[in-house]
Amino acid sequence: MREFCVKVPATTANLGPGFDCIGMALQLYNSVKVELTEDKKIPLEIISRNNFHIPADETNLIYASIKRFYDEAGIGNLPPIRLTQDDKIPMTRGLGSSAACIVAGLIAANEISGLKLKKEDLAALAAKIEGHPDNCVPAIMGGVVVGAVTNGQLSFIKLYTGLFEQNNVSFAVCVPGFELSTELARKVLPEKYSRADAVFNVSHASLLTAALANGDLSKLSAAMADKIHQPYRSALVPNMTEIFEKANKLGAIGSFLSGAGPTIISLFTEHDFEKKMQSYLDTLPGGWQIFNLKLDYNGAVIE
Ligand code: HSE
Repeated sequence: MREFCVKVPATTANLGPGFDCIGMALQLYNSVKVELTEDKKIPLEIISRNNFHIPADETNLIYASIKRFYDEAGIGNLPPIRLTQDDKIPMTRGLGSSAACIVAGLIAANEISGLKLKKEDLAALAAKIEGHPDNCVPAIMGGVVVGAVTNGQLSFIKLYTGLFEQNNVSFAVCVPGFELSTELARKVLPEKYSRADAVFNVSHASLLTAALANGDLSKLSAAMADKIHQPYRSALVPNMTEIFEKANKLGAIGSFLSGAGPTIISLFTEHDFEKKMQSYLDTLPGGWQIFNLKLDYNGAVIE
């Protein structure tokens, strides 16, 4: 029986102004053990190592993504398979848990089929499945990734930024106990924006990318401002504005809503920031818990 394991990082999308185009991988992982069982009587078996309620049939997102890879590649039937999921990325919290499943499925299918597609090709397919590139692409490639879709074709660049490592920047990933569906968090956004708001976000997303590329920590705080999604989503994340303000007072370099939320991430270097922030969050309703994470540079790997 052949077996291998796929490990995929959590991701945070947008980083403030980079709505649907900038994302970053974090050192928190989902793993899935893939076993080719050769047992034709049980074509599919799905187990959750954490006893989570995950779909155990063909609707399972990892399995559906394996299937999608086979369909897109136009290759034959899948062999009998057992998937054992070990999920550490909180679900429905804006940390790319769905993207991690899609990526795990595509990496697994690439390995099972022996097609040996490049990570770049898998990233394009993953972005097509998810509808935007800002979670799946960093989940595959690692690091901070900027992506754009032109006439249906994905172009992306992984920024080789040493900014966070050189300045010992950590991410206080503040995860609440409540969930927020991406569907709802996208529904509250307007169909149209003013030219002033469009210019605001283009300029800030560009400044953010340039600051990351040049390693300029001093511009990050200003660069993380946004007028496209965060102001509209604040109504769905109780105390979001207060949390941003408190993080700022405690010395955060910058804060943003992680993807569609409700998780909020603050960048910090002060050693006691996390402790002070957690004490503050404990005074709020919502069951907020901080994960202190670093940037993941490698993206998805087979182990
Ligand atoms: N860019 C997406 C959003 C990420 O903010 O809606 C969530 O999938």
